[in-house]
Order: sequence, then C-alpha cells, then structure tokens
Amino acid sequence: MYIDKHYPFEIVKMDYSLTGFDDFLDFATLSIHYNQIYSGFVEELNNLLKDEPSLQPLSLDEILFNEHLLNDAKKNKIITAGSGVYNHQIVFNSISPKNKTLISNSLNDAIIKKYQTLTCFYQELKDECMKMDYGFVFLVCDQNGDVFIKSILGNNTTVKENLCPILGIDMFEHAYFLKYKNNKKAYVEGCIKYINFDFVNHEYEECLKAIKKLKRS
Ligand SMILES: [Fe+2]
Repeated sequence: MYIDKHYPFEIVKMDYSLTGFDDFLDFATLSIHYNQIYSGFVEELNNLLKDEPSLQPLSLDEILFNEHLLNDAKKNKIITAGSGVYNHQIVFNSISPKNKTLISNSLNDAIIKKYQTLTCFYQELKDECMKMDYGFVFLVCDQNGDVFIKSILGNNTTVKENLCPILGIDMFEHAYFLKYKNNKKAYVEGCIKYINFDFVNHEYEECLKAIKKLKRS
C-alpha cells in the first residue's frame, strides 16, 4: 500500500471525515486516535529518523524487516513508532462509512478456504478481537496467497513474518474507550459492519501481484 513511501513519512488521508460515522465512532474518539495517537507516531518516527541518512531512503517495511540496520540506542523507539505508523495505516483504511463495495470473489474464496464460511470468519474475527486487550487483530495474506487471522500484541507488526496485513482492527483502548467504555463487543461489531472492502480487496490483490512477481524473479 505505502510500500514506496519513505522518510519523511506523512499521515495518510482517510476517504472519510472524522464526523463520517454517525452511529459508530464519534468525532472525539476518532479525532484523538487519528490526530493525536496516530499522528504522534508519525511525528515520533520522523524525529527518530531525521539524523539517520542511511535509513531515510528505506520504506517502512524495509526498516521494520531489517532491525539489524537500526542503531542500538534508537532501535526500540524506531520499532515502536514505526509499528504504530504501519499498523494505523491499515486500521484507518480498513473501515469506512462509505463501505458500499462487497468482498471480491478472490478474497471470498481465500477466506472460505480457511474458515469454510464468511459467517465463521466473522465469528473468529470477533472472538480474536474480544481476547485482545493491547494490540491489533489483522487478516493477513501469506506468501502462498492464503489468508488467516493474526493477532499482534503491543506495537509490533507482521512484517518480519512476511505476512501482509490486508484488514486490521485496533484493540487498544484508545481506539474505543471514550465512546464504548468496556463494551468492546459493540466496537468490534461496528468495525466489522463498516469494513472497507474497497481497500481490503485492493490490498489482497496487491499481495497476490507481489507474490506472482516474486515467483517470476
Ligand atoms: Fe490505535
């Protein structure tokens, strides 16, 4: 998605406004998450990289995949900020109030292959989200084009496992607590109701293209 982007990293624009969700996420909840927490990660990452010319041409995937390139004094901070940027790019694009697009046939087939039915998939996704208190739940694509649900605790990513996230749900309390308090279930159901298949289908197709390219090389 943002594979060609490098320092200075920019805040990705969403295809909806912060007031776009009437019955799901209110302005205050979404604004704190997007304008403060996610933007804070972008600012922090750029600050950490401003004196690191060797890292500046690298994409976020390359930085997170090649931890050995990071200087020890900043390593943990770069991984945390970089992961925050990486994961929130997926999360904010995974939902949209304009979600008119249906799941694509190819992604539908991949999900059915793993979970038998879409209903089973959504149930598993909900269950994983309900179990997660401090991290993210992703639908990822592996190097065979197969998809499965993957939970990531804390600010880590699936990059080092060569798993490409195509759909993400943020289960840190900062994503929902202001509106939903402890009602995680309502928040998760909202995330699923508003899945942005324009984005998710596209990400899956991009993964499949990347796999084909890799096999040819
Ligand atoms: Fe978040």
